Amino acid sequence: MLSIEADKNIIALNTLGFNAIAEQFTRIASEDDLLKALQYAQLHQLDYQVLSGGSNVLVDEHIPGLTLHMQVMGRAVLKECDQQVLIRIGAGENWHELVQWSVVNNWQGIETMALIPGLVGASPVQNIGAYGTELKDVLVQVRAWDCLAKEFVELDNSECQFAYRDSVFKRSKGRFIITSVDLKLHKRLAIEFKYQALKDYMHKQSLANITLKDVFQAVCEIRSDKLPDPVKVANAGSFFKNPIISHSQFQQLQGDFPKIVGHPSACSGVKVAAGWLIDHCGWKGYLASGVGVYPKQALVLIHTGESSIGQLMQLADDIKQSVFDKFKVQLEIEPQRFPSVN
Ligand code: EPU
Repeated sequence: MLSIEADKNIIALNTLGFNAIAEQFTRIASEDDLLKALQYAQLHQLDYQVLSGGSNVLVDEHIPGLTLHMQVMGRAVLKECDQQVLIRIGAGENWHELVQWSVVNNWQGIETMALIPGLVGASPVQNIGAYGTELKDVLVQVRAWDCLAKEFVELDNSECQFAYRDSVFKRSKGRFIITSVDLKLHKRLAIEFKYQALKDYMHKQSLANITLKDVFQAVCEIRSDKLPDPVKVANAGSFFKNPIISHSQFQQLQGDFPKIVGHPSACSGVKVAAGWLIDHCGWKGYLASGVGVYPKQALVLIHTGESSIGQLMQLADDIKQSVFDKFKVQLEIEPQRFPSVN
């Protein structure tokens, strides 16, 4: 039976910790629950929106219609051989706990994505990534309800159209409701480091044989040092994407700011460290009216508990403007508005 709560405050379900009242709210524990909730929404002519771990959302104070909180659980091994394992994970499973499970089993592929907040179902939406790995590197398929075709569909890796913090799920907003994700992990790959900071960190440990657990622990330590734990300091991870600019603009900027940080991007251009740009506009550690910039990582905006989403968005606009004024680079916000705005 579908259980609907009216006027539910989802302050505890968004890691930025803003008060937000969902007009109607229900927990989705299975694909069957999802179908029932969609029928209910249709019957009562309600708009609906999907809430996952709430770690990458900017919630409005009032959320009309029906909010679906995705809690489909389950971890299963679908196929296994000497080299690889194929696993299916319910959308409601916690991402970090999945990473821990993979490391305990010695399955390689997602260990550098430890401590990314949120649930598995949201991981393909923004193609989560950290320290040289992105979800797209291990994802085989996504199962989702297609709200347009009105059926469950399976999208393979290429159909997900992954790009940097982007996917078909983000681009065709509201079309797909993800219920499970299949990943292929490896049993016997040599450990290599694609991200210099992690490589340097591991080097300093002078370990004889580096294990997946060592990599996992190193990532947890690096992240805990630089990024705030949302349980202690309300935040939504990186608030801005790292902008991709042309090689010529980057060269020009290097002339004026020789220490600017940028890396060649997979698509043509240079991916510039937005944290560096914001830091060099003097924002690091800024705090006013309950919203601010994390003192150890300028890419993360924080909320100390007595502010509104409007004030946070004003701060984001002020940061964007000052970065543009100084570097002529346009920043783009990473977390998604909830409910989404088109
Ligand atoms: N930097 C500064 N000042 C700052 C922050 C960063 O000068 O305040 C410089 C750093 O010194 C470094 C460069 O900027 O040279 C890049 O910083 P960092 O290595 O910390 O990574 P990032 O680009 O800020 C990205 C992801 C993170 C991910 C890390 C590690 C985006 C938007 N962010 O951050 O993802 O954990 O790389 O791979 O791509 C997230 O998406 O929520 C997130 C935390």
